[in-house]
Amino acid sequence: MSQSNDRTLRFCHEVLGLERLHYGIWMPEDELTLENLKEAQVRYEDYLVEKIPKGVQRILDVGSGTGIMTRKLLDKGYDVEGLSPDQHQKEVFTENLDVPFHHYSFERFTAANTYDCLLMSESAQYVNMEKLFENARQCLKPNGYLMICDYFVLENATGMLSKSGHKYDRFMDLVEQTEFTVVSNEDITDSVTKTLDIAKDVVDRALLSVDIATEKVRRKSPRISRFVLWMFRKKIEEGKRQIELLDSAEFKKNKTYRFLLLQAP
Ligand SMILES: C[S@@+](CC[C@H](N)C(=O)[O-])C[C@H]1O[C@@H](n2cnc3c(N)ncnc32)[C@H](O)[C@@H]1O
Repeated sequence: MSQSNDRTLRFCHEVLGLERLHYGIWMPEDELTLENLKEAQVRYEDYLVEKIPKGVQRILDVGSGTGIMTRKLLDKGYDVEGLSPDQHQKEVFTENLDVPFHHYSFERFTAANTYDCLLMSESAQYVNMEKLFENARQCLKPNGYLMICDYFVLENATGMLSKSGHKYDRFMDLVEQTEFTVVSNEDITDSVTKTLDIAKDVVDRALLSVDIATEKVRRKSPRISRFVLWMFRKKIEEGKRQIELLDSAEFKKNKTYRFLLLQAP
């Protein structure tokens, strides 16, 4: 996982106070409020829990984040374990949960006992595609399930949004090549993109506050402010590119958000 992704997740957790590090499933009538975001994120988790096939008992929460989903699965009576390569998440997880935690990337993990189901809630995008299927086969019992909820990049995607996530077509080819069966494949793009709209709203408001707070300085000392803008031009450009990532219309053009339930041979 890149350092900037790691920082973003810590920012969501520590600064915005969001315990959950994934998109939400929104209702069409939902307004863009932090309360509705939290409800949408809980709805996303409930949606995943409902999709767990009958007979599943042992689950590995791959990329378990702060452990919220692990706790939910534990409360539902599953035998669940967490895995994440992130040091901060390891500390949060092990402080709050008394279940096994594997401090590894999935690529480097070897299962001592195989699982009925591997859950990848917005973590598949960080795992090397070939290794993902190879290791999933090794970690799963025969006919075990690989549950993935994540965004993928469409074939003709361009710009910043084409740079994060696996290519959808290539991913689905690998599903076939590695002999997984597709039990379910749902496109939930339209119900998750309000998560981007609220994030953009928060960023736009923060930028407006900075604009208002610095207005006086800009009026009184235009040459100094032009110099400061020049000094920080790279940071400003980077900021603009980051905002592009929050454009939900662009997201829909370039990405597809999928729920995939796959079954191992
Ligand atoms: C966006 S967060 C999702 C967290 C949690 N699953 C959720 O739905 O809230 C991505 C997670 O993937 C983990 N991750 C990043 N690279 C990984 C890798 N190579 N193998 C396993 N997990 C990884 C991160 O540490 C983090 O826990």
